[in-house]
Formats: sequence, C-alpha cells, structure tokens
Amino acid sequence: MSQLDHKSEAWSALFSEPMSDLVKRYTASVFFDKRLWQADITGSLAHAAMLAQQGVISATDLADIRRGMEQIRGEIGSGGFEWKLDLEDVHLNIEARLTQLVGDAGKRLHTGRSRNDQVATDVRLWLRAEIDLIADLLVGLQKALVAIAEKNADVVLPGFTHLQVAQPVSFGHHMLAYVEMFARDHERMLDVRRRVNRLPLGAAALAGTTYPLDREAVARELGMEGVCQNSLDAVSDRDFAIEFAAAASLVMVHVSRFSEELILWMSQNFGFIRIADRFTTGSSIMPQKKNPDVPELARGKTGRVVGHLMGLITLMKGQPLAYNKDNQEDKEPLFDTVDTLKDTLRIFAEMIEGITVQPQAMEQAALKGYATATDLADYLVKKGLPFRDAHETVAHAVKAAIAHQCDLSELPLAVLQQFHPAIDKDVYDALSLRGSLNARNTLGGTAPAQVRVQIERHRTRLAA
Ligand code: ARG
Repeated sequence: MSQLDHKSEAWSALFSEPMSDLVKRYTASVFFDKRLWQADITGSLAHAAMLAQQGVISATDLADIRRGMEQIRGEIGSGGFEWKLDLEDVHLNIEARLTQLVGDAGKRLHTGRSRNDQVATDVRLWLRAEIDLIADLLVGLQKALVAIAEKNADVVLPGFTHLQVAQPVSFGHHMLAYVEMFARDHERMLDVRRRVNRLPLGAAALAGTTYPLDREAVARELGMEGVCQNSLDAVSDRDFAIEFAAAASLVMVHVSRFSEELILWMSQNFGFIRIADRFTTGSSIMPQKKNPDVPELARGKTGRVVGHLMGLITLMKGQPLAYNKDNQEDKEPLFDTVDTLKDTLRIFAEMIEGITVQPQAMEQAALKGYATATDLADYLVKKGLPFRDAHETVAHAVKAAIAHQCDLSELPLAVLQQFHPAIDKDVYDALSLRGSLNARNTLGGTAPAQVRVQIERHRTRLAA
C-alpha cells in the first residue's frame, strides 16, 4: 500500500503485528479531536508556507499542499470527509488525505514537525478563537444585567447577610454586583488568552529540529503573540488549558451564585421575581408547578466545569518532560468546558430579559426584617450619640416594634422618643426604605443616584 491508510504505516517497519482493536479504540482520539480540523489546517498551511520560504520544500510543493488543503476544507465542511479510526487522530487523518490528493508534497508537510508541537499548536489556535467568543458572550451578559439594573434602579430589595434581612438595597445595585463579577471574568479570559496565544510549532517532538525553521514568521502568520522559547516546555505543558478552565470555573461559580438567588427569589416564600415561561418547566405530576430549571441546571453544570478543572490539573501532575500521551486527555474536558460555558452565557443573557420583578413583595420582605434599623442608629449618631450607644438604643426599639408587630417606621413618635429624647419627626425620613437607600450615596453605595453613575460607567466601558 503506497498511501497512508492506516496509521501503523506512519511508523510501520518496526512493528511485527498490527495494533489490537481494543488498543486502537483506546488510543484513538479522532472522534473527538476532529473538532480541531480548522486549526489543524491553518497551522499546517502556516508551517508549509514557512518551509517553502526557507527553501525546505519547493514552491510547487507548497502550491500542491494549498490546493489539497482547500479540497479537504471543502470535504470536511460539507460532511463528506471520511474520518478513519485507523488513522488515530485529526492530524494523521488530514495528512493521509492530503497525501492521497497531492502525493509527495503531502508527505513533505511533516518535515521539521511532530504531532507533539502540532497538537499543542492546534489546541491553542482553537482555544484562542473560543476565548474570543466567550469574551463577547460575557459582554452580552453584562449588557443584559446593566439593562435590568437601569430599569430597576429605584426598586428596593432587602439586602441580606447570612440570608437574614440586613439593609435595603437597590435591585439595580444588586444586578450591578454581578456585572462586576463578569467584568473581572472577562478581564481574566483576556489575560489567559495572552498565554494561550504563543506558538509551540517548531519544537518538533521535543528538542527542536535540524531544519532552518523561521518560527517567528509562523507565529506572525498565525497572529500569535510570541513563540514558546523552550522546545521541551512547548510540547508538554498544558497550563494554558488549566488556567482557562480555572477562569471558566470562576465564571460558572458566579453564574451559580446568581442562579441560586433566582431560584430563591422565584420561590413562593420570596416571590420577588418571575421568570418568563419559556425558561421554566412544569411538573408531570403537580399541575401548579413552574420550575426554574435553567438556573438549577446552570448551578449543576458548575460542578461539571469545576470537575474539568480538576481533571486537567490532575492530568498534568507528575508528568515528566516532555510530551506524554496523557495530554491527549486534555481535549474532552476542554471541549465540554467551552460548550457548557458558551451555552450557559447565551441562555442567561436571554433569560435576564425575561425576568420581571415584584417590587411590592421585596418591600414587604424588607419591612418584615427591620432593614432600616442601622439607619435609626446612624440617625442617633448624627444627633450626637456614640455609635455603640445608638446601636443598643435601636435594639430596644426593634424589640418594641416586634412586640407591636409593626415596622420601626410604624411606631408612633411618642413611642420612639421613649428610647431617646433626641428623636424627632425627621426620623421617619431615615426609617423609610427609600430614605435608607438614598442616604447611601457614596462611591460604590446603593443609592439610586450612585447606581446610575455606575450604569453610565458600565455603558461606556461595554460600548468600547
Ligand atoms: N492525539 C495526540 C494528542 O492529542 C496527538 C499527539 C500524539 N503524539 C504522539 N507522539 N503520540 O496529544
């Protein structure tokens, strides 16, 4: 057989028996790594162009390789390409087809290259493109959050600590807290991208190559920010994939926090929000149910992504230099991380548009929890009391309100004055939810005026 139809022919002379079917299946990666085909072809074309430039292959070889790759692109794109398990992975499948199509030029493509630097290059090229998509989706999600924040800047939500009512906050302010988280996630993704975007190609199997390669030229051609400077490191480390998985895990952790709140808020006990029907599901037995399946699934999928991080980091642990086949195991977790993350970000941006808030339920909850107790303390401090004394005085007032089964703001002035004579009519401004909100008018605070300042800042930032 003259053509490379079975991968054993890539190194066959030494082998006296064919690989067992079980081993073939166990070691093959083509059924998942074929996803790298575009990156594989892009990398190969850049390598071939440089080989021709350096006089390692002829201009005719390069033209043949380009022609062959064009056809392969078409075949894979249209689903007409025959992927062979016997050819183990995406790299050997494409190279074998190229050789079938253009003959010797195809066989020359692998000059000065190994699958070790090839696969590391492919994964980086692929991941770089995915990071760009994810970064865009993170911007989209932030925009959706800013929009709902703007609509509800004046809506009062009970803010919680320990899941106990603490102080009133603007619903918009609460949404902007997530904007901050996703903004940092975006920043992290772009930072990871810088280290993903370096070129391993030219490291060959592990030690570099004897051909006069111009690695810088390949890096430029591929839009990479630099060349991996040590061949052993270039082919072996997957730290770039690990840090991507870590950044992805943090995104999912933020999504899971938001999910948990949405789930609580839409429960009957809270009743703070409704989520549009298209994002909820019913029960097959309980006709009254509307379940927040999307946020619940996102919360669950966080475990999956964090699991991939654990998988990848453990995969790297203890690997001796340089390349080991262990690294083939980087792909499925990486692919699934990207898929899960993209779907989740997309669906959340859409779902946020389908959230309607129930301001009355939120205010009711805030009132039930004496959310303005701190404001009464602050009021007394402004009248000259030391804060600790004010704190103690307010504790007595809250006790009285509990006994009267009312909010602090509903206690008559005469009753309030029993706790301190400095209390006057203007106390009711401090005790109202809105007064409490407006009073926190410092940078990063929850006053609607501050929330609007932040919304403007985010709008400008996200438009850039
Ligand atoms: N499929 C392999 C991987 O994903 C490609 C590199 C194989 N290299 C080797 N020397 N067997 O890592």
